[in-house]
This record gives sequence, structure tokens and C-alpha cells, in this order.
Amino acid sequence: MHIVLSLGGSLVNTENGTDTEYLAKINGIISKCIAKGNKFGIVVGGGFAARKKANKLRTKGKNEFECDEAAIKITWKNAKSVIAALGGSAYPKVIKDFYKARKLAMHNNVVVMGGTIPGITTDTDSVLLAEAIGAKQLVNISNTDGIYDSDPRKNPTAKKFDRLDYHQLIHIACEYDTRKAGENFVFDILACKLIARSKIETHFVSGHSLNDLENAIDGKAHNGTIVKEI
Ligand code: UTP
Repeated sequence: MHIVLSLGGSLVNTENGTDTEYLAKINGIISKCIAKGNKFGIVVGGGFAARKKANKLRTKGKNEFECDEAAIKITWKNAKSVIAALGGSAYPKVIKDFYKARKLAMHNNVVVMGGTIPGITTDTDSVLLAEAIGAKQLVNISNTDGIYDSDPRKNPTAKKFDRLDYHQLIHIACEYDTRKAGENFVFDILACKLIARSKIETHFVSGHSLNDLENAIDGKAHNGTIVKEI
């Protein structure tokens, strides 16, 4: 069964560069899950390096398309680091379009992508990959350990949801957008709408809890948030 992992770039690269130690741990979990019969599509984000690059280009007068273009190249670089960490388990090249990913997913245990086109994010890419390869389960791995009713970084009493349906998630993503302009919700609104149209069960877990990650892949209870039809 195919599962898509959306791996936040901030887990792959930090201010200190690529976190190879962390990627080795991810490899451990993926290898274990492949042995259980799972196959994976992985979409890797841009993280700190992408944000830094885009900000630098903006100050030089580059437009948003050009900033996205540069950020996408960094997601590809991060995706390459993930492939290297996975040893022989993954198709050895970063895949840059969904049609190719669909073909390659048939014959490989793991296919790895980064970004695709300007104007979207790797959240949306991960859902499109899930649709393309027929995955019905997606695990979003980031620095945030679930979906909250308000920003947990700002509100210490923010409440984490164990479970939401698609429409509740879309509602929260929209509210968050209007309330906190300029700040990112954990999953972008287009990605939220796409999981709803295809009924893709989506698990939001902290990348720092490998136990939660493994449980999410196995479809077991975890400390993050599960979004599905209730
Ligand atoms: P993400 O924002 O998806 O990476 O892509 P991330 O690091 O997982 O996310 P955060 O910031 O930690 O939450 C990084 C940037 O790459 C460009 C966008 O500029 C995006 O902000 N991008 C990514 C695209 O333009 N198109 C894509 O398909 C993917």
C-alpha cells in the first residue's frame, strides 16, 4: 500500500546545514515499514535554506515567481539528501513531475520529490502525489505536533485536536489565514481542499517523535491529529 510522507524542510536542513543524523533515523523507520509491505512517496520541503534564499532574492528585487523557482531548487537539494540517506531503498533521482512519479512508483519502494511549480508549496505537491499514485494515506511530518485551535507558539492555552473531519480542517485553515496574515498554517489551504476531494486520510505528527511517526504510518493512534471523514 502506498503512503505519502510530506517531510518539512526545516527537519532536513537547519541553520547548521543538512541534518544527516535525523535523516538516518527517518531511514530506520522507512526501512522497517518497507519490510512490513509499505511503499512510499516522499515530498521534501525547503526549510530554513529556502526561506533564506527567497528573502535574499526579494531584497535584490527578484519577483515572487523567481523566489519560488529558487526555493524549489532547494527542495530538490533536500530531496537529494533524503535519497542519499535512504541508501538503496529509493529511486536514485529526485522526481520533478507527477506523471513520472506515478510510473516510477509502480516499480520502486520509495519515490522522492521536492517542489514542482511556483505558486504552491510542498504540502500541495504531497497531496497531488498521493492522488497521482493512488495513496489513501498521507503523513505530514513537521515541527508542529498537530492541528491546534489557535497558534500554539503564541497562545499557551491553544487546544490540540485529536481528530478532525476535512471540513473542520478547511475551516481552521481559512480562519488562520485571515487572522494571521503572513504566517503559515501547518497545511496550506489548497492542500486541505485536495485531501477533502480525494478523502485522503491525513496524519499530522511532530518529526521529533519517531514513535508517533511510525504509529501514523501504521495507521495506529498517536499524539498528533488525524484528519479523515468522521
Ligand atoms: P515549502 O514551504 O513547502 O517547504 O516549500 P517547507 O520547508 O516544508 O515549509 P515550511 O516553510 O517549513 O513550512 C518552500 C518554498 O518553495 C517554494 C515556495 O516558495 C515555498 O514557500 N515552492 C515549493 C514552490 O514554489 N512550489 C512548490 O511546488 C513547492
